[in-house]
Amino acid sequence: MRSHWTNRWMFMMATAGSAVGLGNIWKFPYMTGTNGGSAFVLVYLLCVAMIGLPLMMTEIMLGRRAQRNPVAGMAWLAAESGGSAWWKTLGFMGIATGVLILSFYSVVAGWVLEYGSRAVQGGFIGLTVEQAKHQFADFVSNPLALLFWHSLFIVMTVVVVARGVTSGLERANKIMMPTLAAMLLILFGYSLAIGDMSQSLTFMFSADFSKITPSAVLAAMGHAFFTLSLGMGAVMAYGSYLQRHVSIARASFYVVLADTAIALIAGMTIFAIVFANQMEPAAGPGLLFQTLPVAFGQMPGGTLFATVFFVLVCFAAWTSSISLVEPAVSWLNENLSMPRTRATAVVGGVAWLLGVVALLSFNEWSDVTLFGLGAFDVLDKLTTNILLPLGGLLMAVFAIWVMRETHVQEELGLNNRHYRNWRWVTRYIVPTAITLVFLNLMGWLPFV
Ligand code: PFF
Repeated sequence: MRSHWTNRWMFMMATAGSAVGLGNIWKFPYMTGTNGGSAFVLVYLLCVAMIGLPLMMTEIMLGRRAQRNPVAGMAWLAAESGGSAWWKTLGFMGIATGVLILSFYSVVAGWVLEYGSRAVQGGFIGLTVEQAKHQFADFVSNPLALLFWHSLFIVMTVVVVARGVTSGLERANKIMMPTLAAMLLILFGYSLAIGDMSQSLTFMFSADFSKITPSAVLAAMGHAFFTLSLGMGAVMAYGSYLQRHVSIARASFYVVLADTAIALIAGMTIFAIVFANQMEPAAGPGLLFQTLPVAFGQMPGGTLFATVFFVLVCFAAWTSSISLVEPAVSWLNENLSMPRTRATAVVGGVAWLLGVVALLSFNEWSDVTLFGLGAFDVLDKLTTNILLPLGGLLMAVFAIWVMRETHVQEELGLNNRHYRNWRWVTRYIVPTAITLVFLNLMGWLPFV
């Protein structure tokens, strides 16, 4: 018997735990900054609603119907409907994507750990904008420091995943998620007091269509996948531990809502601080680490607050990273009979090695590039902009054109009207939108 979540809250909490992570707190604000603000936010929100929500339902549905890891699950589902056994390739693609993401994700989670340790030592007190900038630059140019924290984070991930669904994943999520949400709200409140919230809101929400470029659209769509953990089987793996009676639509809705709310709150908070201190919104991946420490350094009780904050961001990253390896680990465990502990160590080891390459691209190997991008950016762009949307596209195709409709309808358990809506969006909007964005990127469409 496979283990299952104790109840639907645990599933929702775990799926939200997977979705809410560095993508919301680190990546969303910096991508909004580098992609011109409101236009990016608008396209991102559209993608979340039109592609993210229906695909979240699709992916959970695939997992729960299959009751197997993504590789065996795709094979089983295809067989159930008389489809090709090749569909299991989609499961393998997801496994590879998860490992690739974990490699660079862990490097950034390592930055969070370093900043947490600086916070405890009162390192932000009286920090100026210039100092914050230099400290970050100095830090990422030190490969040994990056290596230390990256390795620590991989070990943390391996330890939780090795313990399995209920004792490892559930326990971690139950405590960390609600606390993070509360902390973020307090920080938001503080940024209302000390930051420039009105400029932050203008930057994020006053739609400026002139800034919508093909690459911003691709980035926004890719980010919608990344932030919701869609397209690589993580949600499918979690769905496979879900009991039959739980409503997939409701769970999906709340997860998507929570993820989006947290990203927007993080963005508003960070930009309020950016504008109040005349910082650069387009600072790139260092944005979080160059802005918040300055604010923490000025606020009363900032040392304590900063410590708790970075610890919680680390927890958010942790609950996401465990889902990144779950497809690979469950496959090694269930299909190759590898004990969970060993499977986790193997997957963690591969991600660790790739992560070393990623972290060296900030220093020793900064001149090694592919298409003009360093290893860190290659891993990020390849997974976020290509592999995740491609995985999502194939899942939609599978659910609509390969699976028997009666199975889909039965598993989703929606009333007729909602089912029709889901089917229409998944059949027409999802594949068309993803394909258009891809073609546009390749320069085959003249939308500029
Ligand atoms: N959704 C996570 C975040 O926003 O940080 C990252 C992630 C986790 C992506 C799991 C993909 C995934 F399967």
